[in-house]
Amino acid sequence: MAIAPTPETSSDDNPPKIDRPVVLVGLMGAGKSCVGRKLAESFGLPFLDSDSAVEEAAGCEVKDIFEVYGEPAFRDCERRVIQRLLQGGPAIIATGGGAFMDPDTRDDVKAHAISLWLRADPEVLHQRTKRSKSRPLLNKGDPLQTLKDLAEQRYPIYAEADIVIDTGNEGLEKTLEKAIDALRQQTKQDTPS
Ligand code: S3P
Repeated sequence: MAIAPTPETSSDDNPPKIDRPVVLVGLMGAGKSCVGRKLAESFGLPFLDSDSAVEEAAGCEVKDIFEVYGEPAFRDCERRVIQRLLQGGPAIIATGGGAFMDPDTRDDVKAHAISLWLRADPEVLHQRTKRSKSRPLLNKGDPLQTLKDLAEQRYPIYAEADIVIDTGNEGLEKTLEKAIDALRQQTKQDTPS
């Protein structure tokens, strides 16, 4: 006999059971690191950031890797680093905006993780990134146009993520709430009853 949970113990009050990595996908400024850190805190899981892991492996900042070794070298390192992070068990992993565009990384994420795309309009992303100089792709030309071009190229691919969350100018708490709800639905769906 199935016993309905009492309101105090309703399964929806509990954090979803995360049994594999959750990979955050999205353009620069989408909030992958911010939201990722908070999600990790809520679930009591480690937070990992692929850009930081690349910097650690290379011994220099992402913008210097682009400048000195070029973007292909960065992408190569990024692919290997994410492959390693995915093998570490449940964690929240924020990836650099280009990572999910790599077909091998995408296959790996699909096989071993739950992917969550934080979708936002280029104008919003521009507002959020315009004061930082740490992103080599936005340090030249017209950054708003670059974000628009990247959105056009990447959004059809990001749409392959398991979960899509729209983040506008709403606060972090709202995005977090939406992400937790969506993960709850996703993990329910993954667990046969
Ligand atoms: C990139 C995004 C950056 C970083 C690199 C390239 C991209 O990460 O990986 O500058 O191609 O979109 P964030 O998305 O965390 O800014």
